[in-house]
Amino acid sequence: MPEKVIEAKNIESGYGKLQIIHGISLELRKAELVTIIGPNGSGKSTFIKTIIGLVPAWSGEIIINEEVDVAGMRPFEIINSGIPINYVPQVSNVFPTLSVKENLMLGLLANKRRENNGAESDDWERIFELFPRLQERLDQKAALLSGGERQMLALGRALMTDPDILLLDEPTAALAPVLADEIFTKIIDMKKLGISILLVEQRATRALKISDRGYVFVTGQIAFEGTAQQILNNERLGELYLGRRVS
Ligand SMILES: Nc1ncnc2c1ncn2[C@@H]1O[C@H](COP(=O)(O)OP(=O)(O)OP(=O)(O)O)[C@@H](O)[C@H]1O
Ligand SMILES: [Mg+2]
Repeated sequence: MPEKVIEAKNIESGYGKLQIIHGISLELRKAELVTIIGPNGSGKSTFIKTIIGLVPAWSGEIIINEEVDVAGMRPFEIINSGIPINYVPQVSNVFPTLSVKENLMLGLLANKRRENNGAESDDWERIFELFPRLQERLDQKAALLSGGERQMLALGRALMTDPDILLLDEPTAALAPVLADEIFTKIIDMKKLGISILLVEQRATRALKISDRGYVFVTGQIAFEGTAQQILNNERLGELYLGRRVS
């Protein structure tokens, strides 16, 4: 079996004294695409933020690449130690007053591996191949991008850090179905680049169709886990979480 790029063990976390995540254990293997689904407020974003250190883990372990435990590390410590993980938040995921190019440059600056391998032009080429629309709008302020373009920029900036592992929090939120499809296509392309992806999605059916495995969160716990197919085929889960969000 491919190595575990993320192994979260028994994570508990929350805000202040309010516990949101109640002992979640989850793993992501190399080049896997794994989707987390679950109702609003079930802790999906909180869990992702806990992995990247934006919300401190109260207890548990978060082992990256089977060697480093990042539980307790702050986001900048994780990035500065060169752990090739990046995160695209659910909201405010671009710098609106900066141009497309400047947004991408910020990703490049956070690319800890660039000094050692590869020229800068390769990074740009990879982005433009995947997101040609960004190349056409390099000097445009991010605030003026359409919703779909903005999500592409957020993905592009994350890609500029040359990540092995990407955490994507609802990248298709607030997008029309046709634009959401475009984002899903890009996610498949990123997986083909060998990037391991942990995806949170409201468009559960659509996301599971392109995923290897999935986890269903309910009130900060895992209510079900399995292959994407097992979740899609599960009648009870279908009624509860998939029925109304077919996309
Ligand atoms: N900064 C915060 N301070 C206090 N409570 C918060 C904070 N952020 C989220 N919460 C609470 O934590 C719970 C889980 O929220 P979270 O955003 O993780 O859910 P989610 O599964 O991502 O939901 P959605 O599908 O709506 O994005 C909610 O009850 C929410 O109100
Ligand atoms: Mg969320």
